[in-house]
Amino acid sequence: MSHEKHTIEQLRRSLNIAVALNVIMAIAMFLGVVLTLTDSWPDWSPETWFKSGGKPSPYAIDLKTEPDSMTLAVANQLSLWKGPDATYAPQNDTGELIRYGRELIANTAAYLGPKGSVAKITNGMNCQNCHLDAGNKIWGNNYGAVASTYPKFRERSGAEEDLYKRVSDCMERSLDGQTLPPDSREMQAMMQYINWLGREVPKNEVPNGAGIVALPYLSRAADPVKGKQVYAAKCASCHAPDGQGVAAADGKTYTYPPLWGDHSYNIGAGLYRISRFAGYVKYNMPFGATYQNPQLSDEECWDVAAFVNSQPRPDKDLSADWPNLLGKPVDHPFGPYADGFSEKQHKYGPFQPIKDKITELKKQKGAISSK
Ligand code: HEC
Ligand code: HEC
Repeated sequence: MSHEKHTIEQLRRSLNIAVALNVIMAIAMFLGVVLTLTDSWPDWSPETWFKSGGKPSPYAIDLKTEPDSMTLAVANQLSLWKGPDATYAPQNDTGELIRYGRELIANTAAYLGPKGSVAKITNGMNCQNCHLDAGNKIWGNNYGAVASTYPKFRERSGAEEDLYKRVSDCMERSLDGQTLPPDSREMQAMMQYINWLGREVPKNEVPNGAGIVALPYLSRAADPVKGKQVYAAKCASCHAPDGQGVAAADGKTYTYPPLWGDHSYNIGAGLYRISRFAGYVKYNMPFGATYQNPQLSDEECWDVAAFVNSQPRPDKDLSADWPNLLGKPVDHPFGPYADGFSEKQHKYGPFQPIKDKITELKKQKGAISSK
């Protein structure tokens, strides 16, 4: 009998503990929901422990007065640029246009690809394939410096370019297609989104973390043979051994975009310069890599860039590009050049001797023209 009582007592106690645990869990879950909904989880990342005492970012803004710039302010703790989330764009017609612009950049092919619902004028890739997270990933070829620096003079055209010209360039080169009229709803939407994303950046500033990282030059030429091995080991599983990518189930775009061949970017695209390709890969590929967690050494990035950009891809008439030869980037692979180096060295490097020579020529020219 007393033994039975004892067991009941034990049972009751276990039950009490179970109930208490449940209550604690319910409170914890409630707190979790509230914190998530209000986006007020404390940041436990090591960066925030070390940031106290650091210089405040010039892009810092007050969370309470500008709730739509939440992500921007969070990223500012690292002093790296990150734009606001488009869901925070105003709830009016302009906000709608901004959100449509983001959608077009993320899912370009659905609207403008070979099976696009608006026009059939691009190659099936999305802007986002190269401008990750719709142009809002740190060092992910983002749009952080666009609103602050355009319109600007660009050596490629030898003229002042506005944002319309720059977006058109990517449509005609990176997406190997045609551009839209400047006043079309789609073009307006993309431009509004890009400008809205970078609107906090002071005029003429290029924030840290914007665009593509510039990797240090190798002292040797980048090597396509070594790059082929990198490709087989680190890229082919997604982009396919033949570089043609993998089509998405809807047949409109790609799950893994092509890196060469008829459906890839053409020879006039930014990624066709190996410094751009290598820098893009460093902090973004294999997919999932970030600036905090790069997967490849700098050498592997340069070599795989050399390999991929040695493969066939669509052509483009570039005869009007780079009218000032001294303004040509060292890694532009097509002559004529002012510096006397070969097309091969301009394609694969080593680049430092070319850079030194161009600096010298520019100095001479400056000396002559200032006489
Ligand atoms: C195949 C890759 C690729 C695709 C696709 C692509 N771009 Fe680009 N884009 C680039 C590269 C590379 C640059 C030059 C970056 C650099 O030199 O730092 C660039 C530059 C830009 C810039 C100027 C950035 C700056 O900071 O000056 C804008 C704006 C832009 N792209 C918009 C677009 C839009 C909009 C689309 C889709 C309609 C698109 N791009 C599609 C690769 C691509
Ligand atoms: C796990 C799959 C995966 C692996 C592995 C991978 N990629 Fe990608 N890659 C992607 C995806 C997905 C995208 C498009 C990203 C998006 O749209 O958000 C992409 C985009 C790209 C782009 C820009 C778009 C284009 O097609 O031109 C380049 C360049 C690129 N990858 C190069 C590489 C290289 C080089 C490697 C090997 C070092 C590599 N990738 C490994 C999945 C992968």
